[in-house]
Amino acid sequence: MILSIESSCDDSAISITEIKTKKLLFHKKISQELEHSVYGGVVPELAARLHAEALPKILEQVKEYFPLLKAVAVTSTPGLAVTLVEGVTMAKAIAVALDIPLIGVNHLIGHIYSLFIEKETQFPLTCLLVSGGHTQVMEVKSLTEIETVAKSMDDSFGESFDKVAKMMGLGYPGGPVIQELAKDGDRLRHNFTVPLHQSPLIAFSYSGLKNAVRLAVLEEEKNENPDFKDIAASFEHIATKHLTMKLKKYFKTVRPTTFAIVGGASANLYLRSQIQDLLKPHNAELILSELKYCSDNAAMIGRVAVEMYEKKIFTSLENLDIAPRSSL
Ligand code: KG4
Ligand code: ZN
Repeated sequence: MILSIESSCDDSAISITEIKTKKLLFHKKISQELEHSVYGGVVPELAARLHAEALPKILEQVKEYFPLLKAVAVTSTPGLAVTLVEGVTMAKAIAVALDIPLIGVNHLIGHIYSLFIEKETQFPLTCLLVSGGHTQVMEVKSLTEIETVAKSMDDSFGESFDKVAKMMGLGYPGGPVIQELAKDGDRLRHNFTVPLHQSPLIAFSYSGLKNAVRLAVLEEEKNENPDFKDIAASFEHIATKHLTMKLKKYFKTVRPTTFAIVGGASANLYLRSQIQDLLKPHNAELILSELKYCSDNAAMIGRVAVEMYEKKIFTSLENLDIAPRSSL
């Protein structure tokens, strides 16, 4: 079995995965959303302190598996430096104590493999990753053949929801609250400009849209009883339209056969339905992670770790280092 640790941002999680069957035997996550909510975003120092509290508590619950462990895996890149260190230090201590190999896992590959928890992989696929830290399209052929074909030049899709929610005083994370508020809003009320709509580039950008929303929020705040639901709906509509317009352009040269959406923001229902519509004329299959595995978790890290274990991709104690900014 493999014990896997995830601490790249604000979720402390540990999983146990059986190598032979790829079965997830244990998964526990302690989320810090509530603690960060008052600040409208993740405070790295606070996150690190909370990981130091939560991870040992979860580890206690998997002591019975220790004699059966063949490796220990941990997210080592990308993420917040001070929180990655918490998981990596714990993983190194376990590797030394049990004399087992270490596996450093890329968090973004983790999100891709969240599609295959307890399942065989289905490659090749075109994958849209939408999370708090990333917005990118990847062509995935295998564990080691992943090519990023488009990415955000500034904010990420999920981050833009977080920032809009913060402007409206709705706490963190913004995705679920904005989705809820948008449900009853008029998507066409605010005619925000679709980012990069005149650019031939296949890339993403959310900072301009964020600023346009800020102006609309300030305007609405002049009312006695500000109501943000139309702004939320119009924002969600344009943020999503930006993705679908660029994907449509991309599909003109690369026809999708299997398309996946992964990452915390892949839970967004409007995004899911719009992508589904986009794929219809191509007869392409849409695959998604289970809702509980869209956001950060250690089950996905364990699933990657099993593949790496089989290929003997280990990292020595001296060489396993955190890399906050590395990407694919
Ligand atoms: O993958 P994840 O848990 O963490 C990172 O790796 O960044 O993604 C968290 C992000 C947050 O920005 C959160 O607001 C966003 O995913 N998110 C959503 C929804 N649920 C979570 N964004 C839009 N709609 C949602 N329903
Ligand atoms: Zn993530």
